[in-house]
Order: sequence, then structure tokens, then C-alpha cells
Amino acid sequence: MDKIKIRGGKKLEGKIFISGAKNAALPLICASLLTKDTVTLTNMPRLADIKAMNALMTQLGTQIDVFDDFVDGHPTQTYSYRTPQAVSLTAPYDLVRKMRASYYVLGPLLARYGRCELSLPGGCAIGARPMDIHLSAMEQLGAKIEIKNGYIYATAEGRLKGAHIIFPMVSVGATCNALMAAVLAEGNTILENAAREPEIGDLAQLLNDMGAKIEGIGTAVLKIEGVKELYGAVHKVIADRIEAGSYAVAAAITRGKIELLNAVPETLRRPMQVLRDMGVRVSETDNGILVDAEGCRLTGKDIMTEPFPGFPTDLQAQFLALMLTAEGASMVTETIFENRFMHVPELLRMGANINVHGHASAIVRGVEKLSGAPVMATDLRASFALILAGLVAEGETIVNRVYHLDRGYERLEEKLRSVGADIERLHESDEE
Ligand code: EPZ
Repeated sequence: MDKIKIRGGKKLEGKIFISGAKNAALPLICASLLTKDTVTLTNMPRLADIKAMNALMTQLGTQIDVFDDFVDGHPTQTYSYRTPQAVSLTAPYDLVRKMRASYYVLGPLLARYGRCELSLPGGCAIGARPMDIHLSAMEQLGAKIEIKNGYIYATAEGRLKGAHIIFPMVSVGATCNALMAAVLAEGNTILENAAREPEIGDLAQLLNDMGAKIEGIGTAVLKIEGVKELYGAVHKVIADRIEAGSYAVAAAITRGKIELLNAVPETLRRPMQVLRDMGVRVSETDNGILVDAEGCRLTGKDIMTEPFPGFPTDLQAQFLALMLTAEGASMVTETIFENRFMHVPELLRMGANINVHGHASAIVRGVEKLSGAPVMATDLRASFALILAGLVAEGETIVNRVYHLDRGYERLEEKLRSVGADIERLHESDEE
């Protein structure tokens, strides 16, 4: 398994191009199942999760074309998806267990074919992550749901029927699945207490470009007028706000200065405000966001994760790492997932001062220095927190199991090296 070696102490300066968002691309790919025409997605990131989703789509019968492309002079990929007729309606365990977002095929397959067999994804490192809200929404839209042998058997007699759905809690995944199911349903659907993450707005935009009738995009109440058929479209994937926020912390933690090209300020208001409150200069430029921490003394700030537009849970680990280098104490409260402090034991090995109380909160006290150490990545965003700590730790940090990182960060070491980091990837054969 690959590792990443970092020698800490370099101030990062320069520009980083922010890729298309993983958490937008995954549902966008599945939305292509809703039409027999071609859906083309540009600004697609090169990520393991995209490859995993493409493998599932191919198994369902989707024809995929891909070519290397450029957006604003930066390398990306353009994918075209066409499913004239699905050859399978099953998302099997061996694919779903590797990538839980496979469950985004549920809404589209039910909407277009009235049937889907989906392996239950099971839990993951950060929590149990059940699908009860997804399944309840499908039942309210007229589907019959049966669970046996670890699989969900979803069926619908004819078209799904529009419904007034009030989500019991905000769920990004359930909102995406319900949206993709409702666009072809008979009649009107209202989704109340819908998630407002920008990636959902990106999905709704593509669906409307395909001929859907969705109103209330960006709000917690989505109104959908069902249509009989959807058509092809071309769509540019929104920039990845979590990648941008992660590199913003890389600038702040090394007291450097990085311009995040293509970052969308409206998707990062809360995290950028926290950086400003800590003493970092953050400004909007014609090309994105400039994060300038040169010469800044940072003070710790409390953060609490919430659904958008609150502080994103996917930036909690990265900001906790930043608090290690700030003066004073910070309370970090995680309200979305039940087990999202797995970066803490690894950071403690680097000399951090952190106390986790129960599952939901951690007190972080800034320390004079961190020391490099071999550490273990556990989940995607926790792994980036270890990279961040390695960038400022004295000596060498080796991050093991970097396949976690490859799921959600495109060309990570290349992007960090381009702004001055002393970082390299050790392939199996390179290891001493
Ligand atoms: C999406 O996960 C993202 N993944 C996550 O990003 C992100 O952390 C999360 O939204 C919150 O923003 C993708 O978009 C692929 P939820 P999702 O449904 O949809 C509970 C990353 O690092 N819940 O909003 O699974 C759930 O357990 C990943 O890129 C139910 O109880 O998140 C959680 O506690 C990690 N029942 C809370 O709701 C359900 O049916 C929010 O989950 C669904 C969710």
C-alpha cells in the first residue's frame, strides 16, 4: 500500500487549482440513468471514488466515454454517460461496500425502471450511516421496500407518485435520492427539511437542464413537478468546497499564502469566517479565494459542525489540526457523525494536546511544536488532517494507507509540492 512522506517546516505559497467536487460528481453520474440520452459532465476530478462509481454504472449497462480535458488551463476529465437500456438493476455488495455512494442508483432506477436491488452499504469508519431516511422517502413516493439477505429490494408498480415528504433530519444522500426519484414521478413532490449543500444545488441544476421541473434550489423546501421523460445535457461539475477548505488550512497551518483557483466563496462562507476569526487574512479574488496567513499569530476558535450553511463536518478534522498550532484552547463539536475523531489518536502521537469528551466534542490546546511520526490514515478527511500536521511537524511524517486520501483528493502531493511542500509518495516497491 502506498504511503506519503512529508518533511515539515515549509511555508506554502502559490496557487492551487481546485478540482470538481467528488460529492457533486457522484450523484451527477447517477442522474444520467434517468434518460436514454447522453449526459456529459465536464470538470470531473480524477478520483478513486469516481472510478468505483463508473464500474457500477458499466455493470448496469451504461456506455461511458472519457477524455482528458482542460478547464481554465488546468487538466481535468470530461465524461459522457449513456444508458439506452439498463442490463442490470442490481448494485452488488462487492461494489457498494467499497463505495457507499453507490446507493445513488436507487432513486434513478426506481424512477425509470420501477425496480432496484441494492446491497445495504453497511457502516463505515465514521459511523453507522443507515439508509432509513432514503427508504422512507422511496416508500412515500409509492415504492415497496423489502430487506433480506443484506439487500434492499425496491419495486414500484408503474410510475412513482409525487408526495409531500418532510425529512426527520437533514440528509444529503436522502435529499439527492428523493430528488432523482421525484423528477419522473406522476404529480408533484415537496421535499421539506431538504439538505442545502451546494452539491445538491448542482444536481438540481443538471436535472433541470435535462428537462426536470425543480423549484426552491438552495433552500430547504424543494418543489418538483414530475415529468414523463428527461433528455441529455452537458454540465460542468461545481468546484470542490471541501478540497478548497482543506488547502485553505494548508496555507493557514504553515503561515503561508495560497490562492485557491476556481473555489466558490458562496460555498465556503462559514469556514472562511472561522479562519478570519482566528487571525488569517481571507479575501475573494477574480479567480477564487486568497488565504494569507503570513506573519499571523492564530488564536483558537470553537467550531461546531452543522448541515449547510453551517460549518461542514467534512472540514472538522482539518480545522482541528489547525487549532493545534493556534494559541489558546478550541472546542470542536461534531454533531453530524458519531465517530469522527479518529484523527485524534494519530495527532496525539505527534505531540498534540487534545481531550475528546464522549463522541461529540474535543478540547484542543495549541502546542509549541508537533513532531513528525509514522501515522495511520483511517478515513478520507481524517487522513488530510494528518497531512496538515505533517506539513508543520518537526522532522518526517509517514502517512500510511493513503488509499483513503486517493478517494477524495486529486493529485494531492502534486498540488502541495507545487506550493513548496516537501512531500512524496512512496510506492510499495520504494519502501525501505
Ligand atoms: C454526504 O454523506 C457526504 N458524502 C459526506 O461526505 C458528508 O460528510 C455528509 O453528506 C454530510 O455533509 C457524499 O456526498 C458522497 P447525510 P451522507 O445523509 O449523504 C444520518 C466525505 O468525506 N442518516 O447527510 O451519507 C447519518 O448517519 C463524506 O466526502 C441517517 O440516520 O450524509 C449522519 O449521521 C463523508 N439515516 C447524518 O444523517 C439516513 O437514511 C447526516 O448524513 C441517512 C443519513
